Amino acid sequence: MATSNRGQWSGKLGFILAASGSAIGLGNIWRFPYTAGENGGGAFVLLYLTFVVVIGIPLVLAELSVGRKTQLNPVGAFEKLSPGSKWPWLGKLGILTGFGILAFYSVIAGWTLWYLFEAITGGFSGEITPEVSAQMFTSMTSDPWLAIFLMGVFMILTIVIVQGGISAGIERTTKILMPLLLVILVVLAVRSVTLPGGMEGVAYLFTPDFSKIDFGVMMSALGQALFSLSLGMGAMITYGSYFPKDENLPQAGIIVAFFDTGIAVLAGLIIFPALFSVGIEPDGGPGLVFVVLPTIFNNLPAGGFFAIAFYALLAIAALTSTISLLEVVVAYFVDEKKWERKKASWVAGGACFVVAVPSALAAGGSAFFTDFMGFGIDFLSIQNNLWGNYSLSFGAVMLCIFVGWNWGIPKALESLEASGHKFAAAGVWGILVRYVCPAAIAIVLGYIVFTGTYF
Ligand code: TRP
Repeated sequence: MATSNRGQWSGKLGFILAASGSAIGLGNIWRFPYTAGENGGGAFVLLYLTFVVVIGIPLVLAELSVGRKTQLNPVGAFEKLSPGSKWPWLGKLGILTGFGILAFYSVIAGWTLWYLFEAITGGFSGEITPEVSAQMFTSMTSDPWLAIFLMGVFMILTIVIVQGGISAGIERTTKILMPLLLVILVVLAVRSVTLPGGMEGVAYLFTPDFSKIDFGVMMSALGQALFSLSLGMGAMITYGSYFPKDENLPQAGIIVAFFDTGIAVLAGLIIFPALFSVGIEPDGGPGLVFVVLPTIFNNLPAGGFFAIAFYALLAIAALTSTISLLEVVVAYFVDEKKWERKKASWVAGGACFVVAVPSALAAGGSAFFTDFMGFGIDFLSIQNNLWGNYSLSFGAVMLCIFVGWNWGIPKALESLEASGHKFAAAGVWGILVRYVCPAAIAIVLGYIVFTGTYF
């Protein structure tokens, strides 16, 4: 299999930026706050942080080790490490999951474009009450053509970048913009926390009420940890496959995980204080972030400028994530089916556009998809649960079994340490990947599936 012309990151920093670009996105800024709000706040946050450390980081390294060793897409990688086995199916499930996630993620990403447009045209000037903000949000999402159009524009942006190839497309986009996003988030968090009543939001986020923990909350926290770190479907296998031979991989992976988690906490520190300050309920669902944010811009000096900068950077953060989702699908067709990159990008992206239409109509655009078949849940949330929680968790258990028991920890470690840098936590990591992670994920996922809770 030709690996020489696949391209490579320009060093460790290039990798860290690109992998952070994949990890940091709507998962941190849109999904984390609203999921935390739906699951009672502090207890969810504590579980999420625990899962990041105990499950997320070990899995980041497990996926990266497979990618670095094989230098292939997930399907090819499993085939190479376990020839003639059924493991490549896990890679195929990952590719399907990437496609499934992109098919609802692109809808939310489209919303960010609309808010950017509103910010540029002065839509957030003057006092915006929670009612006005909620009204703005629904008038966008309930317009079917607008929602489809926005999703489509975002899909095209993603396709155009992915077809341009790996380092040229992805790295350049991330290099300057990720640090800028961080700066804007810090400014907004400081403003939000110091709003009257803002500290209540901080308390909500960090005071765990243990009585709120049940398997549903655990599933959401686990799914969020995996989703946010782009785990469970082979994205990190793909990214690891472009990692330079002579650089310290475990260190780079851990930096990415910390950076990603830091951004999510920062987003929480923007949303919850603001929401308590203006009196919005924390369990408002997928629209939460979009409804809360416009209410703080006019409390900020140069708020109009910050609004534009924020939505522009949010759209770009989303774009660097959609790129990684489509890239996994495209890399499969390029490596395994020998398609041209350009053709693979347009065919996969085009198909995803079609599949994303019902999700685009699920926030008021169509009654059928908003209350899907009368289940009392919208189609987008179903997709979000199905791919973002269940499928990623399943993929994560299987990956632990593969690396821990089939391919084996010694070989995975060899790959992690290929540059000659020793991985100090190798012993703990092996135990986590072999026993703790697969058992913990299987218990949570198993409980949810067998008791039929949560859908
Ligand atoms: N992690 C991204 C976010 O938080 C979303 C994402 C990109 C993703 N690639 C992924 C999630 C792969 C799961 C798997 O926004």
